[in-house]
Amino acid sequence: MAKKLFIETLGCAMNVRDSEHIIAELSTKEDYELIERCEDADLILINTCSVREKPVQKLFSEIGQFNKKKKPDAKIGVCGCTASHLGEEIIKRAPYVDFVLGARNVSKITDVIHRKGAVEVDIDFDESTYAFSDYRNTPYKALINISIGCDKECTYCIVPATRGEEISIPPELIIQEASKAAKSGAKEIFLLGQNVNNYGRRFSDGRRKIDFSDLLQMVSEIDEVERIRFTSPHPLHMDDKFLEVFASNPKICKSMHMPLQSGSTEILRAMKRGYSKEWFLDRAFKLRELVPDVHISTDIIVAFPGETKADFEDTMDVIEQVRFEQIFSFKYSPRPLTKAAEMEPVDPQIASERLTRLQNRHMEILDDITAAQKGRVFDVYFDELKSGGMVSGRSDNNFIVQVRGSEELLGKTLPVKITEPRRMVLYGEVLQQES
Ligand code: 5AD
Ligand code: SF4
Repeated sequence: MAKKLFIETLGCAMNVRDSEHIIAELSTKEDYELIERCEDADLILINTCSVREKPVQKLFSEIGQFNKKKKPDAKIGVCGCTASHLGEEIIKRAPYVDFVLGARNVSKITDVIHRKGAVEVDIDFDESTYAFSDYRNTPYKALINISIGCDKECTYCIVPATRGEEISIPPELIIQEASKAAKSGAKEIFLLGQNVNNYGRRFSDGRRKIDFSDLLQMVSEIDEVERIRFTSPHPLHMDDKFLEVFASNPKICKSMHMPLQSGSTEILRAMKRGYSKEWFLDRAFKLRELVPDVHISTDIIVAFPGETKADFEDTMDVIEQVRFEQIFSFKYSPRPLTKAAEMEPVDPQIASERLTRLQNRHMEILDDITAAQKGRVFDVYFDELKSGGMVSGRSDNNFIVQVRGSEELLGKTLPVKITEPRRMVLYGEVLQQES
């Protein structure tokens, strides 16, 4: 009888893909099947994130809960970025944890499950050419890694210390994977990397001359691929060639994540982001000019050490000028193994006030953007059944759209007229197509 696997995934899309790889390896090589309740599992895994402090604190209380609920002989494994960063300490603090598997050691999963006390967290381990078994959370979309690690040195960020140096995955492996996924029904391909538009910088199996724009073109040449998305690009590497390929290739979805982090050139320098406020604005305006309907999302950190009122006003100014369709905003959280952790923090009260002001202002902008969608028609690719007889999908430019309907809409791209736009979801009706 198949053994039972429960897995909880926190963090970014790369972690979601790592969990898919873990499930794939365990189901094809170890006869595990995925279940929904940790109480019934033979193996409980938690795939962690350490980008901010909160999820790390939560980790220990959570594995404590798993330990209480689990079957007596069930194993517990801690994977992902916190595993990389804390390593052995996890087993010292929680001795009932059976193994620790770092974010860059995913391919060793079938080995560590048999070694009580195993700690595999080598951040120099190179799995850029490892052929993982196949598993996807949804048949309609395929997440595909195009690189591992990150070469940047953003002073607030723990990721280079958890995922190691950046190595690009060879293009032929990516094309092979995208082709296979698209032929089996995943018409949307989601390319993943810490810094996707730095693609091609280093391969572990020799030199090649290829960049991210070339890779996008190659993926778009696969007939069965209808839509291409990617995350995360870096504003510094948004050269004209990249923006032009983005704008002109009809298969590339018109939504761009542009992680601003701060609108102040001074703070950007202290963060070692490599661009200025002016460069960011120039790229965002160029993007809006080339693709008038583009959806721009961003990440912002408020109250980075040394952020003055004037620095924060620069961030607010960029928000006014770019009018992002989506903002993920965070209070700065000091992380171990980072340069900024040694710097003088901003008063927590001021940090909270800034975050609230930014989020409130963005809600107002978003309300205007949302209201303007009423009556518009979007091509929506449906990929998820929702409760109450609704089906959900995304427009090319990344709005979440829901309509009344059932399974037969799944996997289809249909024109939808927006009747009731709300902040998080645009509700609409599928337009009857002429036969
Ligand atoms: N504090 C707060 N937010 C952070 N991020 C990364 N590191 C930190 C930190 N130390 C945010 C950045 C990044 C997103 C994934 O998380 O905005 O783009
Ligand atoms: Fe979290 Fe960053 Fe690791 Fe993703 S790469 S799981 S965001 S720490």
